Amino acid sequence: MLDAQRKAYLTAMGIETWRLRTHPDVPVEEKKQRLSDENRSAHHSANQASNTGDPPMTTQDKPLPDWSELIETVSTCRQCALSKTRTQTVFGVGNQQADLMIVGEAPGGEEDRQGQPFVGRAGQLLTAMLKAIGLSREQVYIANVLKCRPPGNRDPMPQEVEACRAYLDRQIALIQPRLILSVGGVSAKNLLQTDQPVGRLRGRTHQYAATRTPLMVTYHPAYLLRRPEEKAKVWMDLQQVVQQLAIQ
Ligand code: URA
Repeated sequence: MLDAQRKAYLTAMGIETWRLRTHPDVPVEEKKQRLSDENRSAHHSANQASNTGDPPMTTQDKPLPDWSELIETVSTCRQCALSKTRTQTVFGVGNQQADLMIVGEAPGGEEDRQGQPFVGRAGQLLTAMLKAIGLSREQVYIANVLKCRPPGNRDPMPQEVEACRAYLDRQIALIQPRLILSVGGVSAKNLLQTDQPVGRLRGRTHQYAATRTPLMVTYHPAYLLRRPEEKAKVWMDLQQVVQQLAIQ
């Protein structure tokens, strides 16, 4: 991306006073060899959906779902009460072989209407953040911890997260990203099983336990809309994302 373009995106993020530094392009070399056992991370949660009477996503004698089966299963999911209030499910979008996977919290109103993650105001800022490091939405994969909107955009409830966990796990296992960027406290809490705030988690590389995928944490773009003065920290986090992708 041209420096002028990047500068425009940084300006959109509100970081116009920062001096641009060159960074290595996110490598496009071949992705790491796909694991032969795709079901490697068919871990603990695959059968832990809440017991609403629906069959679990997997059984011992049934292979784990491929993309099309997973999409179908999510679109008709009734594992928790959010299925009664949603307009539609929001599965996820992007490159199914992405190096970088972004995981947010849950769909908001606009996402619920459009069926796509991060398409509201926060989503526009996320798109600008990605562009600032030379990535388009189509190059990465974007998903949420929850596939349905909690009414009034309230925080997800533990039983909703648990009911949805197998879907996100399966997405991660299918994509096998080289890095997960967890945006916001709810995403970080659930991906890292921690109560530490984002401010304590950002700035270093963690691991998503189920697949041992490197994971970094940054602030949610919706938080940045409320606290634009924190954008500089996110810009630093994004630089680390670029570095992490370059060194693996
Ligand atoms: N916030 C999120 O965490 N995810 C979305 O898809 C939209 C807003």
